[in-house]
Amino acid sequence: MKVNGAMKQNRRRFLKVAGTTTAALALGGLPFAARAASAATEKLKIGVVGSGRIGGTLGGVWVKAGHEVMFSSRNIVHDKALAAKLGPNARAGTPREAAAFGEVLLIAVPYRALPEVGKDLGNLIKGKVVIDPNNPIPSRDGEIATWAREKGAGLASTELLPGARIVRAFNAIGYARMGAAHEQQGERMGMPIASDDAKAVAVASRLIREIGYEPVLIGGLAMGKYLMPGTPLAGERTPEQIRKIAATLK
Ligand SMILES: NC(=O)c1ccc[n+]([C@@H]2O[C@H](COP(=O)([O-])OP(=O)(O)OC[C@H]3O[C@@H](n4cnc5c(N)ncnc54)[C@H](OP(=O)(O)O)[C@@H]3O)[C@@H](O)[C@H]2O)c1
Repeated sequence: MKVNGAMKQNRRRFLKVAGTTTAALALGGLPFAARAASAATEKLKIGVVGSGRIGGTLGGVWVKAGHEVMFSSRNIVHDKALAAKLGPNARAGTPREAAAFGEVLLIAVPYRALPEVGKDLGNLIKGKVVIDPNNPIPSRDGEIATWAREKGAGLASTELLPGARIVRAFNAIGYARMGAAHEQQGERMGMPIASDDAKAVAVASRLIREIGYEPVLIGGLAMGKYLMPGTPLAGERTPEQIRKIAATLK
């Protein structure tokens, strides 16, 4: 009974968000979102926290697309070398500097690091769009991953990164493949995403297209639990295939 009530509430909330996305973009009601979605040539400032395989790869493609990207981790030497290799649109800083720099953030760390990252960044992430590719893997991340899987990865990330406008994306395709997708010709594969926030969806959608995928919103953050390796949505699929599978998960 309680679960059914919560599910109905989540669905109502998602439908409201999905409706808001379209309406707000049409009416210009969300200036930043509308700007990010429509002015495809306007460059963004992106803060990357965790500049490993995912952060380094996706951030590198965004640098090539002309955005300004600050890379960060606990290893500034690595991040400076990465930025130097990528050219003048790339720079390196601490995670707090990257969070302050970015109007949109990609936080890409092992899931077990999220509690520490959330505490370290504190108010700097409040109200910011945060792209969440992070997967709770019990064998790698320990107890926190078991907790996050029970709660659902999207809702767990929200709790660990309070105040951020979270959108789950880039969760279940290998980093090397995602790094090459923008160079491929032909039909684009889909990128399933989940969020409760219209602005996060709009900003992430643009950045996903630049990586080489067509974003497919499958629902609110409660659906984020399906955006992980080992679920029916994992791997590369066409947007239509993603929509069909997602419909069976609701
Ligand atoms: N690899 C993939 O193909 C793939 C695909 C989809 C999703 N994912 C998910 O994406 C996330 C990142 O994966 P990855 O493969 O990119 O991992 P990775 O290569 O190990 O990179 C992790 C990055 O996070 C940094 N980091 C770790 N703890 C940190 C902390 N407390 N504060 C700041 N930075 C910290 C690491 O640098 P330092 O340790 O030097 O700080 C490193 O730069 C994971 O949750 C993973 O499940 C990965």
